[in-house]
Amino acid sequence: MSTSAPGRPLETPPPERLLKADLFGSVSLRPGGAGCLVRRDTTCARAGLGWLARLLARREARALESLGGLAGTPRLIGFDGRRLDRSFIDGLPMQQARPAEPAYFREALRLLRRLHLAGVTHNDLAKETNWLVTPEGRPALVDFQLAAIHRRRSRLFRLLAREDLRHLLKHKRTYLPSGLSARQRRILSTPAPHARLWKATGKRLYLVITRRLLGWADREGAGDRRFP
Ligand SMILES: Nc1ncnc2c1ncn2[C@@H]1O[C@H](COP(=O)(O)OP(=O)(O)O)[C@@H](O)[C@H]1O
Ligand SMILES: [Mg+2]
Repeated sequence: MSTSAPGRPLETPPPERLLKADLFGSVSLRPGGAGCLVRRDTTCARAGLGWLARLLARREARALESLGGLAGTPRLIGFDGRRLDRSFIDGLPMQQARPAEPAYFREALRLLRRLHLAGVTHNDLAKETNWLVTPEGRPALVDFQLAAIHRRRSRLFRLLAREDLRHLLKHKRTYLPSGLSARQRRILSTPAPHARLWKATGKRLYLVITRRLLGWADREGAGDRRFP
């Protein structure tokens, strides 16, 4: 029989830890399943925004389900329409880990290729918080709220897949600029038409809304993510 520290009950599960909270609800790390899981809870979304939070969570649930636990992506554990549970992936967000190994970016390219082969585009890869670096130095992706599932390789699919790739290459330009190939530099210098339009107009409006009104920051979620 195992023993416990004085005063501590046997096999006390680690406490829940809040990773992020905003107007759309919270993201927390909690014990569950074989290890721990990450719960997105839309029940605490700001009044009037619950419907949007649930819509985004449903989008994420569908994308994760169709990926079926692809290595480097969280596995969907459950979704009841309000709370979404996904498997925890150990690692640090990119802006903390600052990956500079060619192997990280090689693997990240492979991961994107597999994601796209499964017909899923992530659509939110500009945010470094959505890229993790595992303790082994491998890439992983989280936050599939804006992801799309494509039934065929349509023009839209190809455009979004290229944008996913371009965002990865932007991160590579930050952390490993000498590793960029001539082709990768070319891709970086030619954003898709919608991205150019976005940059010229929508991006400024988006930043005003998300930073000033919603109080978001692009690097949110970078807090301590480990259980004691
Ligand atoms: N499956 C996961 N494994 C490990 N960490 C995660 C996982 N899902 C989310 N996180 C952490 O929680 C943060 C917030 O989750 P995320 O899904 O990005 O929510 P939001 O859409 O509000 O940004 C992420 O930036 C990441 O640090
Ligand atoms: Mg995120």
